[in-house]
Amino acid sequence: MPKKIILDVDPGVDDALAIILALFHPEMEVVAITSVGGNVPPTIASRNVSGLLGFLDPDRWPRVGVANLPDDGLPVEGRYGPSVDYLEAACLRVAGLRSPHPAEKVICEEVRAAPGQVTIVALGPLTNISRAFHRDPELPSLVGQLLISGGTVTVGGNITPAAEFNVFCDPKAARHIFRSPANKFLVPLDVTNKAVLTFDLFHELPSDSSKVGWILRAILPPAFLTYHQRFGLEAIHVHDSVTLMAALIPEAFEFKELAGDVEVAGELCCGATVFDRRRVPAWTPNIHVARRMRTRKVIEELIAGLKLAAQRAGLMELP
Ligand code: BDR
Ligand code: CA
Repeated sequence: MPKKIILDVDPGVDDALAIILALFHPEMEVVAITSVGGNVPPTIASRNVSGLLGFLDPDRWPRVGVANLPDDGLPVEGRYGPSVDYLEAACLRVAGLRSPHPAEKVICEEVRAAPGQVTIVALGPLTNISRAFHRDPELPSLVGQLLISGGTVTVGGNITPAAEFNVFCDPKAARHIFRSPANKFLVPLDVTNKAVLTFDLFHELPSDSSKVGWILRAILPPAFLTYHQRFGLEAIHVHDSVTLMAALIPEAFEFKELAGDVEVAGELCCGATVFDRRRVPAWTPNIHVARRMRTRKVIEELIAGLKLAAQRAGLMELP
């Protein structure tokens, strides 16, 4: 039976890839997509989710929950500076939702509808998940699995020297989640940094006669350009799709239960994830953390998943 999935996303190219993969994968039933501010402000994240869904038009539409916070609440203006919205390049048409439901409400209802069976895949700041856990304090014990893209164990951060972007954007929410009794799995930068989509692999993607190929070719090149200009790389990170793969092919990952928490106040280290890795830890293990991954297998599955999505989503309509 396909896994019931809630995707919580801040699209973002990386998140968009994960949405495409999950929506058309036979082993996943995406029951809801909820948006959160992060890579882009909350309203743009919600707009991008609607635009992607409208364009891809999957056979089974998930419920949609919208980011429910003001646009000026983030500590940084997106991952690569103000207003970088790679999905803008696709000029997706957006139909307004007739009665938009807040993300945290949708999360609570979908988990309650299938207790113990839903995997939440959190690919942005943990704002919505924290709000859902506040709204329904029993929820953590009803979630089957909470898979989180974010944090670091031994490597540096990617938004500050110490902090990973998603955790940095809402460290209090991240701390709340780390301290909650949910069955949590973290896929940190230590692992996701290792899987990149190279320019060579870009040429293996489905052709632009398919909807999926078309949209990938619209949104990926600006991201490749940013990575080239900022980091001198001919490749982009795909942290969120890698995290999604931990739900699809868990056998490609090695998890270890660690004792972790989040710094919420430090001047230099705010948003850093801290793990008790002393010889004799004093903290109690509370989160499963991916420590190793079969990188090649993960990238192969990712490309195969996008090809499958291209077949299932169908062809671009001629004007
Ligand atoms: C995370 O930051 C965002 O830019 C990506 O979408 C990913 O979720 C990686 O640090
Ligand atoms: Ca993301």
